Amino acid sequence: MKPIKIKTDAFISHNTDCLTLFRPEEEKPDATLKEIDQKLNGAISSAYKNKRFEGKANQTLWLDTLGNIKPKAILLVGLGPDKEVTAEKLRQASATALKQIEKNKTTSLSLAVPDLTGDKKNNLKIEPEHIACALAEGALLSLYRFEEYKSKDKKSKNQNDSLEELSLLTDASNQAIARKSAQKAHKIVDAVFTARDLISHPGNRATPTFLAQTAKKVARANQFTCKILGRKEMEKFGMGALLGVSQGSTEPPALIVMEYKGGPKKQAPVVIVGKGITFDTGGISIKPSANMGEMKMDMSGGAATIGALQAAASLKLPINVVGLVPAAENMPSGNAIKPGDILKSMSGKTIEVLNTDAEGRLVLADALTYSARYKPRAVIDLATLTGACVVALGHQAGAVIGNNADLIQQLIASGETSGERLWNLPLWEEHEKAVKSDIADLKNISAPNVGAGTITAAAFLKAFVDDKTPWAHLDIAGVAWELDKPYIPKGASGFGVRLLIHYLENIS
Ligand code: BES
Ligand code: ZN
Ligand code: ZN
Repeated sequence: MKPIKIKTDAFISHNTDCLTLFRPEEEKPDATLKEIDQKLNGAISSAYKNKRFEGKANQTLWLDTLGNIKPKAILLVGLGPDKEVTAEKLRQASATALKQIEKNKTTSLSLAVPDLTGDKKNNLKIEPEHIACALAEGALLSLYRFEEYKSKDKKSKNQNDSLEELSLLTDASNQAIARKSAQKAHKIVDAVFTARDLISHPGNRATPTFLAQTAKKVARANQFTCKILGRKEMEKFGMGALLGVSQGSTEPPALIVMEYKGGPKKQAPVVIVGKGITFDTGGISIKPSANMGEMKMDMSGGAATIGALQAAASLKLPINVVGLVPAAENMPSGNAIKPGDILKSMSGKTIEVLNTDAEGRLVLADALTYSARYKPRAVIDLATLTGACVVALGHQAGAVIGNNADLIQQLIASGETSGERLWNLPLWEEHEKAVKSDIADLKNISAPNVGAGTITAAAFLKAFVDDKTPWAHLDIAGVAWELDKPYIPKGASGFGVRLLIHYLENIS
């Protein structure tokens, strides 16, 4: 990823293949736009008059300037109603601009940072300093491609190859802010790409060992610590649930332990726990074969955890953060756990495994127990945990369930600003009862007539968290893969990294 340039030229004398102007819906053209319009013989005002462009969200208008002004083309992108412009709208608009230039073999693109302050300031849902950051984020995120496994001549020609220069155009007074924002966006997007890459790699490459090696690499590059617990250590800790899930696979499991210390030494850390099932066949309770390949993404929570630590460290956030990724492959085999088997978890609680496909909660159980050694100020787990969550919320939001209203609210707010939305589901005593087993302490699925699969999964996890520790569980099954947003190309989204960074920034 090349760094974004910051420029302060006047629009009409700015040398670029395409100058993008972001336009809120009802906004009257200002002096600059009028000047451009004049030089283009009224092409812009005519488009407004004919309603070919009105500024609706992600609406575009491409105008070749035919030598009348320095930019070779002007691209207008709509932001929707001016009082409703958010960081997310800017991110999408910016990515929409990049999609347009993909079609138009453009080698340089400039994004004019809109001035959304003035009399509308009080209505805005976005702070002025976040405008440049959102534009940079949207642009960079949309550039993601994963083509490692394509032979050279089969790789698609995309804007990554043709686009040589991406700039933010701003006035001189905002130059420093824009530069800082662009640098910050770059670091965040880098971390999202770490997650997207891990998720995109197939299961035969992204094994638990590969996940662990990647985490080590990321830790070294960003100066935080990372250790890996293997089978022997897991046995020592009595992590029977994590070991149980992995026992059907020839791939050894790994518990990735990452520690970033940006805050005071004695400050209690936030612990992030991410499900790291590198492939989920379902085990003996095997999944149907249709689309099973998608289950290489069952480590998306773990990938987001590694990405979040990378971002926290590279941004040098003044806070302590621990990342835990219980990584294993869920396979059927002669050694695999069977329905009815009982496992003893690190907490001492026993678990009747009635469905080996409900494996995520098993590996998370031991990681959550392990998290207690940090006496955390908050524990947040992320997991592609239930198909039920995809049924409930589709691909528009992750579910958040927890034991602390403040933590849940903070996470929901971070979701709104980052565009990684969360929706709160309840967790009641009845749900907790539903995962009590007749012959062990817990069972890993509840009876079919209970329903609420996303919530009962959370109820199971709750049994492994101390009631006094603020805890939130994010089910990201519906949002980790194949979102259709301008800045998320089909496939891995990296959901969670930006949300977590926002949250960590807010509380630090
Ligand atoms: N990894 C799956 C959940 C999943 C489904 C993630 C679809 C992404 C998309 C999880 O391990 C699983 O199989 N859950 C079961 C639980 C059930 C057996 C209680 C499910 O949702 O069917
Ligand atoms: Zn499963
Ligand atoms: Zn799974």
